[in-house]
Formats: sequence, structure tokens, C-alpha cells
Amino acid sequence: MAKRTKVVKIIADDYIGQELTVAGWVRSFRQNRFIALNDGSTIKTLQIVIDFENEDPEVIKLITVGAAVKISGKIVASQGRGQTVELIASEIKVLGVSDAEQGPGQYPLQPKKHSLEYLREIAHLRFRTNTFGAIFRIRHHVAFAIHEFFHNKGFLYMHSPIITGSDAEGAGEMFKVTNFDIDDTPKGEDGKTDFSQDFFGKATNLTVSGQLEAELAALAFSEVYTFGPTFRAENSHTSRHLAEFWMIEPEVAFADLNDNMDLAEEMLKYVIKSVLDRCGDDLDFLENRLIDEEKVKPTNERSPMPLKEKLQFCVDTDFERVTYTRAIDILKNCKPNKKGKFQFKIEEWGADLQSEHERFLVEKHFKKPVILTDYPKDIKAFYMRMNEDGNTVGAMDILFPGIGEIVGGSQREERLDVLLARMKEMDIHEDEMSWFLDTRRFGTCPHAGFGLGFERLILFVTGMANIRDVIPFPRFPGSAEF
Ligand code: 4AD
Ligand code: MG
Repeated sequence: MAKRTKVVKIIADDYIGQELTVAGWVRSFRQNRFIALNDGSTIKTLQIVIDFENEDPEVIKLITVGAAVKISGKIVASQGRGQTVELIASEIKVLGVSDAEQGPGQYPLQPKKHSLEYLREIAHLRFRTNTFGAIFRIRHHVAFAIHEFFHNKGFLYMHSPIITGSDAEGAGEMFKVTNFDIDDTPKGEDGKTDFSQDFFGKATNLTVSGQLEAELAALAFSEVYTFGPTFRAENSHTSRHLAEFWMIEPEVAFADLNDNMDLAEEMLKYVIKSVLDRCGDDLDFLENRLIDEEKVKPTNERSPMPLKEKLQFCVDTDFERVTYTRAIDILKNCKPNKKGKFQFKIEEWGADLQSEHERFLVEKHFKKPVILTDYPKDIKAFYMRMNEDGNTVGAMDILFPGIGEIVGGSQREERLDVLLARMKEMDIHEDEMSWFLDTRRFGTCPHAGFGLGFERLILFVTGMANIRDVIPFPRFPGSAEF
């Protein structure tokens, strides 16, 4: 195949007068003369002008929306409005037909507005729309910026296992991994399935978090991060939960809760800024899409800022750092709580916060991102460091507007005796966790880390409302299509 030039380069660089080859998919074909060609390298399309008089009518017939084409020709300054350059076609090859074969209108993505629900049903094709093109190009840039951020700081990228033999994290229900014929599993004397005969010689699950393994590595490399898929079998049908999602988990030795908050805030700002710097066209498109969508909403439900302003605000503003105890005071005394507007009323200290409370704090009270710290030990995991008061732990959750919790982390309990006591209280067996406890036995040190929900961050930077629209193929209760 002749070397092709990507549309993003043709639009950005000066190719006027040059003969080039492009390849992509037909977005529209007007007057048998103008093709809008998209190759996914940018949200923009390249206009291709066809010499209709001299073109083979059989080829013209095959050029319909959705067809894959390869076209060579000369780049010229555009005569029409809406684009600066266009390509005058001299050679057209239809690589893959669309409606020409299947019948008019059969291609599921005709050039009109489709609902997000419909597009979710055809997630195998939705990459080809402007909205999902923008989302997944941004998703790529966010992932890249995260690696760049940590790499530049000297963090080591650590791959934590996906299949795990430990279930002590307590982050949620786990999916079992087994090689057994599930209709006929071998039974032990107690009549229960005998996992010692299973593939790994024990019961195993898909991981809910890479943290515990990241801690092991942090106590050798000082600064590490994981970035991988995690799985939770919770029956959550919300717009912020997935059964399979990606998590970034840095873990830092010789760091305390404040260092942890500083790192998380710096990382989020770095990544959001890099999206603003690198994804301008896609952000413009998503911002306008949101403005259109919000026109039909009542004014009080519209977001207070356009998308890019919201992102810039986040980069420029210090996150508010507030203890859980203070947050509970604010929530107890706030109007929606007193007037019974919350689904879950905040009655007393110790209550777990729901996303309605988190969003109230961020969107109505502080009006900026909030880091909540020092939660009651009873609503947090066993590994969080016990504070002097004996009631709270050195936890931190970062709450974002429109999302609620985006980051969850803590300083870790590095004191063997305190950790053992906590595990006993929570009925976590010491023998199962001996490998984890070894880090506290040999060369333990203060350390801290956090987990960033990748899709929740993508929700924030794209302004999308449903987490199922920011991962290519969402897995949630009742659905594992594609
Ligand atoms: O708060 P979580 O459960 O924390 C942990 O798993 C810790 N081990 C992290 C650490 O300290 N290394 O999860 C971390 C983040 C949440 O703040 C949220 O953004 C995201 O992961 N998250 C989910 N995202 C999508 N779907 C779900 N079901 C999620 N559950 C958590
Ligand atoms: Mg959490």
C-alpha cells in the first residue's frame, strides 16, 4: 500500500501542492462530489473533492456513509468554507463497502444524532462517532500523561497480578477464578468445594486492587505505581460504577498523609492540564455537545462552568483539605439534611458518606475539589494508619464536582503490633497475610498511597455523565457484551 498521511497531519502542516494518499471512513458524501473523510487521528474530517465527470460511476456508487476508502490526490487550499485544505482526488479505491452492499440506510451510524443509549448497544461501532472518537482519544492522552507524570518523577511502573489468592483488601465482592467444571466440583469432607484441587491449589479471585502488591514493591523501590484493570462484583447500577475498571495506584515509602495528598493533587492537575494542552479539538467538541445538551435542562441543573473552564479551574485552584469530622458537622447542619432532601440523612459521626453528601460538599459548600481526611476506622480498610485518637485513620478521599469520590487512599499502618491488632478486630487471618506482614517485620517504614479510578477521571475531563460511555466495552451487572 502506498504510504498514507494521517488527516491530523494534513490539517496541521503545510502540504499544499503535494500529492498524498489518505485512507479512512466516509462520514458523508454530498452531491456525488464531496467526501468528508475521517481516519480517527483527529475529530476533524478531510474534504475530498471528486471529479465526478471523469470518475467511474461504478466506483461512485460504492462511496456511501461508513465505507472504507483509500484516496490519492493533490492537497489544495480549500475553495469552500469550513476547512482550510482539501484533497482533489485522482485515484479512488473503495476498500470496504457499506450501504452500497447492505442496502441504503443499513449502516447503523447514519449521519444524524443518535442517543447515547443506542450507541451503547452498538459499542462495536460507536468509536466511529465524533463523541466517542473524542472520548477515546482523550482517554489515550490521560493514560499517557499519567505514565509521563510518574516516569518523570522517577516512579517505577509495577504490574500487579490480576489473579489473586488474597481477598483481604475488603474493597468489595470478588469474581472467582476457577478451572473446575462448575457443575461438578470436587468436594471436601465438609461437603464444600475443595479448592486445593483447583488450578492454583487454592481459591482465587480477580483482583479488586493492586495496592497490597504495590506496597511490597514500594518497600524496595521507594516509589512505584500500578496501572491496571480491577474487578468488583458489586451489584451497583449507578452511573459511576463498573464491574471492570482501571485503577492507578501509586505507593510511596517514607511518605505520610500530607505527602500523599500533595502527590495526588499534583498528579490530577498535571493530567488535566495536559488534556487541556493536547486535546483542544476534542474538548471543544465535547464542550459544545454539553452546552447543547444542557439547553433542555432547568437552569439550576446546568453545570456552573463550561467544560474547559471547569478543567482550568481545577488546575488553578487549591483543593480544600477537610477532616471527616468537620465535614460531618457541615453536613449535619446543612439545609438539604435538615429538610430531608438527602436520601440518606446524616444523623451522627461515624456515618459513611454517600455520593449525594460528597457532591454537596464539593458543588454547594466548598465549590471546588475537596480532600476529606481522617475517617472513622470502622468505615475504612484494615491497612490504614491508626491516628492517635484511636478512632480515626489516616485516610484521604478526593471528591470532584459531578463525580464524588475519584481517589481513595491513606497512610499505611507500618507498625506490626498495631496492624496485627487491627486485623484481629476485623477478623482477617494472619496466616493468609503473612507475606504482607513480612514488610512490617523486616525494614518497615512509613509509607502511603492512593487509588485513582481511571474512568471516573475520564468522566470528569470529558464531561460525560455515565461511566459506561468512557470505557470501550463496559462491564456491569447483566452486561458483558463484545
Ligand atoms: O476507594 P477504593 O476502593 O480504594 C482502593 O481500592 C485502594 N486499595 C486504593 C489505594 O489506596 N491504593 O478505590 C479507589 C478508586 C475510587 O476512589 C474510585 O475512583 C474508583 O477507584 N472505583 C471505581 N471506579 C469505577 N467503578 C467501581 N466499581 C469503582 N470502585 C472504585
Ligand atoms: Mg474508596
